[in-house]
Amino acid sequence: MKENQTISVSYLSYGNISELSDADQLLLSKAIELSNDAYAPYSEFHVGAAVLLKSGEVVAGSNQENAAYPSGLCAERVAMFAASANFRDVDMETIAIYAASETTAQKQISPCGSCRQVMVEYEVKQANNVRVLLMNSSKEVWEFNSCKDLLPLAFDFTALKKQ
Ligand code: THU
Repeated sequence: MKENQTISVSYLSYGNISELSDADQLLLSKAIELSNDAYAPYSEFHVGAAVLLKSGEVVAGSNQENAAYPSGLCAERVAMFAASANFRDVDMETIAIYAASETTAQKQISPCGSCRQVMVEYEVKQANNVRVLLMNSSKEVWEFNSCKDLLPLAFDFTALKKQ
């Protein structure tokens, strides 16, 4: 039987960072600050990512590029890998991401496919959702309740488990 299926994702959009809670504003400000630490001499595209842990700790990330281009890594993965490496069993609550884009200032920027896969991995591992806050130079903020919202039908470890 052929049926039409639909996947829908809802998220909140804010016209300005000032509409967010104080805690979220603080985390996004940290992501903005972190974008200045990006090592992006090739793309000149600066991204900062701040991961808030359940313990209150904030783990920093920014994109790190390399002359051998594929060896570089996005800000989101730098931050999440650092969080997992340094605080293995502490849940991640929120990741705030800021892309200092001059070129696409009107358009929101969202994580690449590989980052989404990594974000979902930790969310599934900890069995608790990780909120995602996205912001770019246009100053609009988008809030997703879960990394899975950014990667519907994600592949995760359950697919590897034998019966
Ligand atoms: N980049 C990120 O750090 N995060 C994103 O969400 C998109 C892209 C980085 C990777 C690379 O250093 C530069 O931005 C251009 O792709």
